[in-house]
Amino acid sequence: MVMPFAINHPDLMVVPSNATPQTVITEGLEKTYPGSNGSPVEALRGVDLRVGRGEIYALLGPNGAGKTTLISILTTLLLPTRGRATVAGFDVVTAAAEVRRHIGVTFQEIVLDVDLTGRQVLDFHGRLYGLDRKSRKDRIAELAALVELSDVLGRKVSTYSGGMKRRLELARGLMTAPAVLFLDEPTQGLDPQNRVKIWKYIRQLRDDHGMTLLLTTHYMEEAEALADRVGIIDHGRLVVEGRPADLVRRLGSDVVTLAGTGTLSALEKHLSELKYVSQVTLHTQEGEHRLQIGVDDGERRLAELVGLSAANSFHVQQASVHRPSLADVFLAFTGYELRDNS
Ligand SMILES: Nc1ncnc2c1ncn2[C@@H]1O[C@H](COP(=O)(O)OP(=O)(O)OP(=O)(O)O)[C@@H](O)[C@H]1O
Ligand SMILES: [Mg+2]
Repeated sequence: MVMPFAINHPDLMVVPSNATPQTVITEGLEKTYPGSNGSPVEALRGVDLRVGRGEIYALLGPNGAGKTTLISILTTLLLPTRGRATVAGFDVVTAAAEVRRHIGVTFQEIVLDVDLTGRQVLDFHGRLYGLDRKSRKDRIAELAALVELSDVLGRKVSTYSGGMKRRLELARGLMTAPAVLFLDEPTQGLDPQNRVKIWKYIRQLRDDHGMTLLLTTHYMEEAEALADRVGIIDHGRLVVEGRPADLVRRLGSDVVTLAGTGTLSALEKHLSELKYVSQVTLHTQEGEHRLQIGVDDGERRLAELVGLSAANSFHVQQASVHRPSLADVFLAFTGYELRDNS
């Protein structure tokens, strides 16, 4: 059997000798930036994270949630203010060089020298990490095939589309056969077609090579489609985590959404006493209230819920029933919708 990701370099063994089943561990991780106007920014406020070997874990959160800060600490680019973190068994502060030997990373912003060809970008990265000529050549061929760039490797990066650049970045992150790959917003700015391609490669990496992947995203469907587990991060805290299907199931079989005006306190109390209601979230925007109610059977309960609202001085203007999604989980745990603002 061909082992496409095996490299005979002692520093680049895929599995470190002291690896634990938990490949990424953070404990009480905090990061406070000084801030420009004298008021410090608490970007991480105590994050406890565990990512198992071979797992795809997605950190889902809105702008400014702390995703890039967390990735930067785990990839040793930034020091934590408090708490600790290990990657592949190595401490990110005291064994940063070891950590770097076991990871690959692709950044949120595209950082490619556009005057180089695709091949030069990959070759340069391989040299930087001490891969010999033959290993570099083999690896470039293999990775270019994986990300479907074989035909354009000789072209300057300046001629690549956004999707091609992202794919080249992914290939570069993989040059060193990392045990753990960190992907900060791997599909930001890509059209749906290119996004689905990147998802395919990510899954392939895990399935074929047992790689551990920690990615960040603010695309709900990305987290849902890709991740074994999702952690929702908001204001520097992990507010909930779990398998997408389990998180969704927690909300109930159906979600009834009631939008309208009026008072809510009496209605909320009533709803929380109903046996078939698993969860209630209130969301107010521009004077309009929206209630998201997790129930056992939406079609069956809708009329009763609308009636109950009227009886409790809440005037329903719009009502709908849908199957819960991760978007509902996000709303339920953060109190607001995750905007897709790329
Ligand atoms: N170098 C810095 N100095 C000061 N504040 C910073 C710095 N980097 C990030 N921040 C702040 O820390 C918080 C978290 O930022 P971070 O970039 O980690 O969020 P994010 O979840 O990656 O956001 P996005 O989705 O926009 O990429 C934000 O309030 C941000 O403004
Ligand atoms: Mg970011």
